[in-house]
Amino acid sequence: MTKTRVTARAHTNIALIKYWGKRDTELFLPMNSSLSLTLDEFYTDTTVSLIEGNSDQFVLNGELQEIKEINKISQFIDLFRKVAGHQSAIKVESTNHVPTAAGLASSASAFAALGTALNELFELNFDQTTLSTFVRQGSGSATRSIFGGFVEWQMGTKSDGSDSCANKIDNADWNIAMLTIPVNTGKKEISSREGMKLTVETSPFYPAWVEQAGKDLITIKEAISQRDFIRLGEITEANGMKMHGTMLGATPPFSYWEPLTVKVLQRIREIRGLGLPCYYTMDAGPNVKVICQANQADQIKQLLDDTFPNNPTIISGVGRDAYILSAE
Ligand code: PMV
Repeated sequence: MTKTRVTARAHTNIALIKYWGKRDTELFLPMNSSLSLTLDEFYTDTTVSLIEGNSDQFVLNGELQEIKEINKISQFIDLFRKVAGHQSAIKVESTNHVPTAAGLASSASAFAALGTALNELFELNFDQTTLSTFVRQGSGSATRSIFGGFVEWQMGTKSDGSDSCANKIDNADWNIAMLTIPVNTGKKEISSREGMKLTVETSPFYPAWVEQAGKDLITIKEAISQRDFIRLGEITEANGMKMHGTMLGATPPFSYWEPLTVKVLQRIREIRGLGLPCYYTMDAGPNVKVICQANQADQIKQLLDDTFPNNPTIISGVGRDAYILSAE
């Protein structure tokens, strides 16, 4: 190994066809394939360096992390150490450039940046698709953050997860933008991991979700290949709502929605009625994301900010692939 210190950057992504539910919780194998848009506005920078001793260190946003967090990172680094045949301890320094005010999860960009940096440090030379199968084992949504643009995460069929990987399907360089309307940026009560588990195990709507997600994926890929923004938006909106529907069927039922969430969704439908195509989606939290056409993003933001002055909308363009910032 010739390198001692590598820094990588990965952007976060928002799913248009959601990943919801695992068939293997150890390997993070999903029940359905998903499709996302990578965002340029939100990203994580991670530096990995070789250190003396036998325990890893983890500094997040300038703060030394507790043992529980370090263990999680160490397990992830082990995946790479194993292939590299290396024992060295690693210091991980990570900075999330995801404004806390956005209320977006950063695990996707975090594990994608860490995996990209480790691939370079250990000189593993994994191609991006292979790398995506590794970062998947840190956080499912990280699989998609290896690539920019519109990205598909194919669920795969192999039990070892080697074919559960991401691929870029389109650069999304055709006037696409995404807005984030922060509703509540506090820590959520039910993590995506817990929410998925409860839904898979108890919701009678879950089998219908898996079936629908498969169909939605086929149609959204058609819409993308035809650059049909309206169809893309309609499928995105419907798919996200179906995912949230599965949670109402769980025992006990749960929901990530808050009263303001409903008002924001209503306002977006009104704005659409004004002739500005824009479509919402939501993840495991109350915040709303809206896909729109980049040349109308400012106008839509203005309308939303006028209605919700305390929750300013953040505009994001399309993000690029994860990449190395420096290596020495
Ligand atoms: O991999 P996680 O734990 O970040 O789960 C992601 C789940 C959703 O955000 C709800 C959907 C998705 O595909 O990103």
